[in-house]
Amino acid sequence: MQAAKIWAVALLLGLAGLPSPALAAGGGEGLMQQANNDLENVNSLQRGARNFMNYCVGCHSMQYVRYNRLATDLGLSEEQLRDNLIFGVDKINAYVTTAMTREQATSWFSAVPPDLSLTSRSRGVDWIYTYLKSFYLDNSRTFGVNNKMLEGSSMPHVLWELQGLQTAVYRDEAVMEDSGKESMVKVFDHFTLDEEGSMNPKEFDGFVRDTVNFMDYVGEPVKIKRQKIGMMVLGFLLVLAVLAYALKVEYWKDIH
Ligand code: HEC
Repeated sequence: MQAAKIWAVALLLGLAGLPSPALAAGGGEGLMQQANNDLENVNSLQRGARNFMNYCVGCHSMQYVRYNRLATDLGLSEEQLRDNLIFGVDKINAYVTTAMTREQATSWFSAVPPDLSLTSRSRGVDWIYTYLKSFYLDNSRTFGVNNKMLEGSSMPHVLWELQGLQTAVYRDEAVMEDSGKESMVKVFDHFTLDEEGSMNPKEFDGFVRDTVNFMDYVGEPVKIKRQKIGMMVLGFLLVLAVLAYALKVEYWKDIH
């Protein structure tokens, strides 16, 4: 009987979704920041879509997304869609493709800009958020910038006018070599903003968060619905567990 009670409590606690220590742990290598994006914030998704169409689609496609699906999911009319998101495409059921050809891409960059439909799932939203904020000046690179999340990245700093230009600052850290000798290495410490952009850092964070939010939605358009259904199912199971337990008590009460 005692065991059954403990199991019932454990089940209820589990269903209540109490944070488990395993999930709380983890994080990047010091640099990684959290996107804290909110898929239920439709305004943020709309702004993110606009950002993407203005700053990214010149190089990156989203080959699994159709414009009219975007309009439906983001609550936009066909007119708003045409005015704000579609540039040079006439069919609203077209997929989000880029005008850049593979040949152009390979001649301009050493890597072809990847399709970004599923990047929020392969890299994670925090990674993309941090990546877009981690471009820094580096004269050795073709476009004069490098990226702390993806060293040697061939993507130019397309948002420099908004963010400004930043320099990476390093500190010396002592490391023990295999031979037992101590030596100094340079470790990344922080960024300093050398030249201000048109946005202050907080505004820029918001801009990036919206963009990442949009990419998160595109990576899994049914995510919001799935999470809501999941909560309903858990609620149902919770009620069922309580009823089943009450029924069991009722059945067994005369037997002892
Ligand atoms: C001028 C062309 C260009 C534009 C505009 C551009 N990118 Fe890129 N992007 C690239 C290239 C090239 C790469 C490949 C970098 C590499 O692998 O070296 C890349 C890589 C990326 C990656 C890394 C993907 C991965 O998994 O490795 C992300 C994320 C990304 N871009 C997001 C964006 C976003 C968001 C925008 C709009 C704000 C944007 N890019 C605008 C050229 C561009």
